[in-house]
Amino acid sequence: MKELVGRVALGVAGFSFAPRDRSADLATIRAGIAAGTAILDTARAYARVDAPLYGEELAAEAARGTGVIVGTKGGHSRTGESTWDADISARRIRSDVETSLRVFGRERLDLYYLHRVDLAEQPVEEGVSALAELRDEGKVARVGLSNVSVADLERAAAVARVDAVQNHHSAIGRESLDVLAWCEANEVPFFAYSPLRPASAAPSPHLAALADERGVSLQRLYLRALLASSPVLSVVSGATRPETVLDSLAAESEPWDEPLATAYAADLT
Ligand SMILES: NC(=O)c1ccc[n+]([C@@H]2O[C@H](COP(=O)([O-])OP(=O)(O)OC[C@H]3O[C@@H](n4cnc5c(N)ncnc54)[C@H](OP(=O)(O)O)[C@@H]3O)[C@@H](O)[C@H]2O)c1
Repeated sequence: MKELVGRVALGVAGFSFAPRDRSADLATIRAGIAAGTAILDTARAYARVDAPLYGEELAAEAARGTGVIVGTKGGHSRTGESTWDADISARRIRSDVETSLRVFGRERLDLYYLHRVDLAEQPVEEGVSALAELRDEGKVARVGLSNVSVADLERAAAVARVDAVQNHHSAIGRESLDVLAWCEANEVPFFAYSPLRPASAAPSPHLAALADERGVSLQRLYLRALLASSPVLSVVSGATRPETVLDSLAAESEPWDEPLATAYAADLT
């Protein structure tokens, strides 16, 4: 699983919820891929009422012929303008995977997550066992869990191998430290989603001053700090403009040096 580590994945949620210029959005995602984006992140739920498979279709089109890894998710979908369901029953997960296989035009999906383990009524064991069966059948290469607690992971891992985890985690808010620690202990790749949106608006004056001094964006330093914080962590960036997509990707090559480490540590205290 080392190939999933230490990268900036590009999430397509921000391209998927409101009508936008599809060809401009595809060009933006392709610019990211041309610059080195190796993983796209999408979901069945990234869709509008009038275009219920939009997010997966967009990722499928952008990824076609490129060799980038695509992570997608099921068991959660839009049921109305402002309503969503969460269902990780075996029947639903199998049906969502079959739909995704059709959308991507593939025999096997790279990485498939149970999207909202936290909201589903069914026990995590049911959903993860269903996905593990699909992995055994060759329809899914990697089994992922999203929006999980350590307790969920312990229960899931007791019945099936977990290949990836995706939770909300930002550089300053560090919302999923316990889940990240579990991933480190079990050598499971951890994807930090919404990495620029801390749950509380904590200030980061030291990182902001360093970003000014270096003439780079604060967002790039947040992403760099996250990547440096754990060997199993990747970020899922939600940038939607060519400038921000490329800037966030550049976090991978931003030097992790003593002034940056010191500024980050100062902002955490
Ligand atoms: N598993 C889940 O339940 C779940 C939930 C939420 C999100 N996600 C995944 O995580 C991805 C990202 O989430 P998100 O969009 O909520 O959060 P985000 O990446 O933390 O924030 C995106 C926002 O940050 C801005 N931004 C990104 N890079 C920037 C840069 N270098 N400089 C300045 N601004 C920058 C974007 O602006 P522009 O739009 O102007 O570029 C956008 O407004 C989603 O696309 C999705 O794939 C997963």
